[in-house]
Amino acid sequence: CLCLLFTLCGPVCPLYAPTPPRSAFSVARTSTMMGHSSRLQDKPPLTFDVEYVNIGGHFNKSSGLFTCHFPGAYFFAFTVGKHPRKAVSVKLMTGKGEVQAIAFDEDTSKRREMQSQSLLLSLHRGERVWLYSQQDERYAVYSNQGRYTTFSGFLVYPDPEAAPTSQDRTQL
Ligand SMILES: *[C@@H]1O[C@H](CO)[C@@H](O)[C@H](O)[C@H]1NC(C)=O
Repeated sequence: CLCLLFTLCGPVCPLYAPTPPRSAFSVARTSTMMGHSSRLQDKPPLTFDVEYVNIGGHFNKSSGLFTCHFPGAYFFAFTVGKHPRKAVSVKLMTGKGEVQAIAFDEDTSKRREMQSQSLLLSLHRGERVWLYSQQDERYAVYSNQGRYTTFSGFLVYPDPEAAPTSQDRTQL
């Protein structure tokens, strides 16, 4: 029986190898999002319609929100298209709207361009991460079926207390 096996081999028993925390997403937009000036103070997240990967289901493409389930260090990267005659300014936000990084292009020529940004963030459980595109008529995020605009993130290292392996070790 499995209990006997566990007693015999303890935590090294391959049958009891705990599943390491898994969290990874990669999404894209297939349409442009034009900025709209508004009096509202909220900063609506940029949403997505194509999901390449969503391991753990921690990214909600309809709301544009990533929610941290496993505290640790996460890698995030995003690439945004610049619309002809518009500028682009997209911020990576956390918590109540703290700006962590910006991808920016103020060129309002008819050229289409791409900008990108990437970073590692230390997140706690329940913390949210999203992209905010400047809500102003001068700005837009360009995309189409070519999927110029993408957002990806994944857990690199879980915090030691969150890793089931170390939890198991302290319990034994
Ligand atoms: C994802 O976000 C949408 C829009 O906010 C919401 O209606 C839906 O319930 C969310 N899905 C999950 C699984 O939380």
